[in-house]
Order: sequence, then C-alpha cells, then structure tokens
Amino acid sequence: MSDYIQTFPIRRIVEHGPGVKSYYFDQMIDARAGQFINLWTPGVDEKPFSISNIDDRYIEISVKAFGPFSKDLMNRQVGEYLGIRGPFGHGFTLQNNALLIGGGIGIAPLRFLGFELAAADKNFVTLMGGATDYEIIFAEDFNRLASASYLTTDDGSLGKKGLVTADLAEIIETHNIRYIYAAGPEIMFVKIKELIDNLHIPYEFCMERYMKCGIGICGQCVLDGSGVRLCVEGPVLNQDELSKVKELGMPHRDASGKREQPVG
Ligand SMILES: Cc1cc2nc3c(=O)[nH]c(=O)nc-3n(C[C@H](O)[C@H](O)[C@H](O)COP(=O)(O)OP(=O)(O)OC[C@H]3O[C@@H](n4cnc5c(N)ncnc54)[C@H](O)[C@@H]3O)c2cc1C
Ligand code: FES
Repeated sequence: MSDYIQTFPIRRIVEHGPGVKSYYFDQMIDARAGQFINLWTPGVDEKPFSISNIDDRYIEISVKAFGPFSKDLMNRQVGEYLGIRGPFGHGFTLQNNALLIGGGIGIAPLRFLGFELAAADKNFVTLMGGATDYEIIFAEDFNRLASASYLTTDDGSLGKKGLVTADLAEIIETHNIRYIYAAGPEIMFVKIKELIDNLHIPYEFCMERYMKCGIGICGQCVLDGSGVRLCVEGPVLNQDELSKVKELGMPHRDASGKREQPVG
C-alpha cells in the first residue's frame, strides 16, 4: 500500500455509455477485489474508487458521472496524468456457491471479484441491475465467468424490467446459494438483508461513505453504532460487522462530517 500520491498517465478509456467510463492505468499496485484507490485530479479533488480489475498490464477503475469530480473526470483524455494512492481497505473473502448482486456503478468491484472467484475455481451466479442497458457494465464478463447470469434494468432495455431484488428469493433457491456479495445503493442492501437474514445466508456488502484521508485518521467515514472506519475496516463488511451498524439505509455524513438526521 502506498499512502503517497504518485501520478500516472491514463493509458486507455472505455466509454460504456453517456457518463459511464472505465479508466486504465499501468499496473502499479497489488490489490484484492473490494479494495479501493484514492484518485486525485490536480486542482479538482481526490475521491475513492473501487478497483474494477487488475491484470498483468493494467489497473482499471469504472466511474459514473454524478457531481463535480466525476463530471470533470469524464473530460479527461488518454495521456493526462492523475494521482493515485492506495490500495486501501479490506476486500472480499472468496466463497463457493455465491451470488453476486450489483446495482449501478456498484457493479465495478464485483467484476474484479468475479475474476478472483473464477481463478479460485469457485462456483457463482451473478445478478446485476441498473437504470438502463449501458449502466450494466461488464455484462459479457459476468455471462462468461458465472454459472448463471441475471440482468435487470429499470426501463427494460436489457434483461428483465424491474428492481434487481425482485426475483432474489427464487434465484437463491434455484441455485442453492450459500453466500451473498453485494455492492450498490444502500437501499438495495436493506432489501437484500430483509430477505437473507431470515434464510441465515452469510454475506458481505461493499459499502460507501464520504471519505477523505482513506487511512483511518480523519474520522470522516466512521459508521455509527460500530465505530468501524469504513476506509480501514471496510469498505467490505460481513453480517457480523454490519449487525452493529445503526445507520444502514439512513442519511450519511456530508463533506463537513455533519449528518442530515441523527441516528437514534
Ligand atoms: C469505497 C468507495 C468506493 C467507490 N467506488 C466508486 C466506483 O467504483 N465508481 C464510482 O463512480 N464512484 C465510486 N465511489 C464514489 C466516488 O468516490 C464519488 O463519490 C463519486 O464519483 C461522486 O463524486 P462527485 O464529486 O462527482 O459528486 P458529488 O456531487 O460530490 O457527490 C455525489 C455523491 O457521492 C458522495 N461523495 C462525494 N464525495 C465523496 C467521497 N470523497 N467519498 C465518498 N462519497 C462521496 C456524495 O455524498 C454524494 O452522495 C466510491 C466511493 C467509496 C467511498
Ligand atoms: S476517510 Fe478518514 S478515517 Fe476514513
């Protein structure tokens, strides 16, 4: 792990659709699926991004345009230098007979996990959802790597129309799922948890909070109830770690550390 920012040129950019791109840099770090890097754009800001793959040549991140930082990134070109620190945090464990559930840009860390599970000869099924077809990035990889692959979109442009969690119970039963991994919007975690807590299926969720230092110093990403610093003890948390978290699905801290509503 390097806590020092080093700058690297963007080697390649892949556009998945409007406002959704993957960026490739020379492979300069070793990391596990679920870990993240902090990306610094000179004069703009520094933000955390999950690693969507590492191979012999490249490290890859995948970004959806939301606000100032990610929109600026959309205008960056191959050859421009950006700063990278990391990798940070803890990644996923590798389990057999698992279901990978991804929502929107949360699909990114699950793509890297899919490669790691396949390399470890683990059997897994994937269930990926997005607002529209191009938001389901890496669908071909999931089709190729998983024993079964399900897709959903809100507008019906790819896969089944509807929420990613709509057929969850049926998929778990059909494939005799023994472990769940999820990454995506927090409301998705709440729905998944409601269902699988009753089935006693263990799980790991890849969480997001506003982060600054990325190394456990500033306290910005601490989760109420558990004291977990998401950048160090997360961003992947299992069911035991999440059982102490009071704020799942509730408003998060903003850049100042202030929360919109207290967690009681
Ligand atoms: C561990 C982790 C992994 C992430 N992985 C990805 C990824 O693979 N792809 C991707 O597109 N995005 C990822 N993000 C989110 C990303 O860091 C930015 O938040 C996002 O790009 C929006 O930033 P913005 O300035 O463009 O928009 P803003 O308008 O500033 O923010 C949009 C939303 O992102 C949240 N946010 C803003 N800054 C941060 C920050 N420093 N840390 C956490 N949340 C923040 C805001 O609270 C808001 O909800 C990840 C975040 C975390 C914590
Ligand atoms: S971002 Fe500073 S403690 Fe986690």
